[in-house]
Amino acid sequence: MRVCVVGAGGREHALAHVLARTADVVVTPGNPGTATSERTISTPAPPEEIEADLYVIGPEAPLVDGLADRLRADGRLVLGPGADGARLEGSKAWMKEVLGDAGVPTAAHRAFTAVEPALQHLATASPPYVVKTDGLAAGKGVLVTGSLAEAAADVEAKLSGRAFGPAGHRVVIEEGLTGEELSLLALCDGRRVLPLAPAQDFKRVGDGNTGPNTGGMGAYSPVPMAGPDVVDTVVERAVEPLLAALRRRGIDYRGVLYAGLMLTPEGPRVVEYNVRFGDPEAQVVLPRLVGDVAGLLAEAADGRLRSDATFTSDACVTVVLAAEGYPSTPRRGDKISGMDESSAVDGVVLFHAGTASDEAGRLVTAGGRVLDVTAMGSTLAQARQRAYEAASLVHWPGVHYRRDIAAAAAAATGPVAESRP
Ligand code: AMP
Ligand code: GLY
Repeated sequence: MRVCVVGAGGREHALAHVLARTADVVVTPGNPGTATSERTISTPAPPEEIEADLYVIGPEAPLVDGLADRLRADGRLVLGPGADGARLEGSKAWMKEVLGDAGVPTAAHRAFTAVEPALQHLATASPPYVVKTDGLAAGKGVLVTGSLAEAAADVEAKLSGRAFGPAGHRVVIEEGLTGEELSLLALCDGRRVLPLAPAQDFKRVGDGNTGPNTGGMGAYSPVPMAGPDVVDTVVERAVEPLLAALRRRGIDYRGVLYAGLMLTPEGPRVVEYNVRFGDPEAQVVLPRLVGDVAGLLAEAADGRLRSDATFTSDACVTVVLAAEGYPSTPRRGDKISGMDESSAVDGVVLFHAGTASDEAGRLVTAGGRVLDVTAMGSTLAQARQRAYEAASLVHWPGVHYRRDIAAAAAAATGPVAESRP
């Protein structure tokens, strides 16, 4: 089988890495990491011009833009929703409407296009205040704050278009939820939901969940607090009803539904839905998937998902190495060193997220999230230790990363030497 992966980040590198077990992979446009093996190549050619048996679309923007529809209209097999289903991620207000129809437990919300009514609503809310851009903002359009003044200023900045341009012309103000966060990615073939192993992502830039939101600074899987009962509950209450609600609207959803959840004292509640693999969740979920990943994704794309997903009991941890200035204004062009030493650490793979080759062929930073240092291990503690050892061996001016990825979960599940039951 030949699979075309669309995208250029760490998620797409991870996809290429696992798909290459059983398929030839061409990534468009890809990055320097996706062009390094015999079975995975990168090309700047647009997906429409690439011959493949299956197309897997990584990022949300081309999905919202209808790339899956265009490829399907040409008779190609695609994993990823059409523009109709991708609207779930393209408009938070629409997502909330569909979740409401489907009876999915989620934070109460209201959408606003004018400043005054939004401020009046905020004044009646209680902290934490949650203000979101309606449109796409690369994971950075969300403010969660205990300060009413900060929330009010954010409403004004978003609605004026100053902060996020047109994506902010409508804002969603939500009830603030508290609890542990969980990401559950599920493969869908239009009717059937196949949950993948849960993961936890770390959205804030700083240790202890401080600083601004990012696209995600690291992740791990499995998640000890999310056993099979949590997964079953989420599938039954949040994912299956959503897929059914989409079908009622005439939407044949074939792709990944990614439920971003908060495990509240009242049970799991949906914070958001995404229409694709999470980044960096894919980097820790996909490597744990046993067997023929290309075959499994092709089944979902073809509306005949029959196989089950089997996961190794080994754990996976990824630590995102970010560029100086990320998330506001990442610096590009810094020379990266230590890649070989780092990837030689047992169980470690370096997924490229924002790298480029300069004119002299040297690897340089080319985005906010630069590298995903990913390690497997028999326990979370072992995977974590390996990931951090490997992370310490990579250098460029201004590199920064969180030191607490998977720390609490690893401490809760036992030491490095002990194997998981
Ligand atoms: P989103 O882009 O919608 O996933 O939001 C980014 C992050 O903001 C989430 O991962 C949460 O940490 C936080 N967040 C979003 N919505 C809420 C909410 N209703 N209550 C508390 N935190 C939230
Ligand atoms: N890790 C968050 C996201 O993919 O949106």
